[in-house]
Amino acid sequence: MSDLTPPRTVLVTGASAGIGKAIAEVFAGEGFDLVLTARRQDRLEALAADLRQRFGRRVTTLAGDLADPAAPARIVEALSTAGITVDALVNNAGYGVPGKFTDTTWEAQRDMVQVMVMALAELTHRLLPGMIERRYGRIINVASVAGLVPQSAGHPLYGASKSLVIQFSQSIALEGMPHNVFTTALCPGFTYSEFHDVNGMRAQVSRLPSWMWMDAGTVARQGFDAVMAGRIICVNGRVNRAMVFLARHMPQWLVMAVVKRVSGAYRRV
Ligand SMILES: NC(=O)c1ccc[n+]([C@@H]2O[C@H](COP(=O)([O-])OP(=O)(O)OC[C@H]3O[C@@H](n4cnc5c(N)ncnc54)[C@H](OP(=O)(O)O)[C@@H]3O)[C@@H](O)[C@H]2O)c1
Repeated sequence: MSDLTPPRTVLVTGASAGIGKAIAEVFAGEGFDLVLTARRQDRLEALAADLRQRFGRRVTTLAGDLADPAAPARIVEALSTAGITVDALVNNAGYGVPGKFTDTTWEAQRDMVQVMVMALAELTHRLLPGMIERRYGRIINVASVAGLVPQSAGHPLYGASKSLVIQFSQSIALEGMPHNVFTTALCPGFTYSEFHDVNGMRAQVSRLPSWMWMDAGTVARQGFDAVMAGRIICVNGRVNRAMVFLARHMPQWLVMAVVKRVSGAYRRV
């Protein structure tokens, strides 16, 4: 960004850990001011202090639970009251509910979809018109390789939600592109973060070979570069791109058999 351009502001959801925290660091390093949101206020404050100190950015924190259907409207209202214009949006907050669909409560499944689909779509719906009007916007929707390959037993709504996010992003990208609003569906595979601690699968996924894993900083940098370049789908890393390619081109019965076998090694159902 040139010194003459007023700093742009990015809103990052799920900024208290993992990929969201790493994306916040990349945007700060690129000269953006930031609004950070997640449930854990102490984590957000610690990151905000770090970004202010390292990059001299203006950082605002807004703690909230995106499982609450009122949260997106509340966030946008708080930003408007504070006079903050959002130029870039990173819809990153997410998690998986492990175990069999029938062994989990409906409320747990509903909340996951609320966080990963409804809040993402509502924040986009509320913030996109302003971006179009100002003729500048960048939106990263953090999806997953899981949205591009067939699903195994367990996580039935996780992969489906991520597929929806990818298709949603494609459509939003086309709507925004003539107005200099770029949208990217970022599709990481296994990434070091707190994700597998939260869903209780750390021990199982630790058995996976290191070449299947990426670090959150690399995923974040690739996401930033992709959205700035106007790439609509960004699958992180050669291994993940190869998996997606094979899943698309092999017979589906064979893909399903491979997915069942491989996921049996790490997924608890
Ligand atoms: N790690 C992977 O292997 C992987 C692979 C593909 C895709 N992804 C996707 O990447 C995104 C980030 O995950 P991650 O790997 O960085 O996991 P993470 O380290 O567990 O971070 C998840 C973030 O989401 C926030 N969050 C969770 N539930 C929330 C809620 N109800 N309301 C508001 N914020 C909430 C968490 O903050 P609080 O707990 O403070 O609220 C945290 O900041 C997710 O969308 C995930 O599906 C991850």
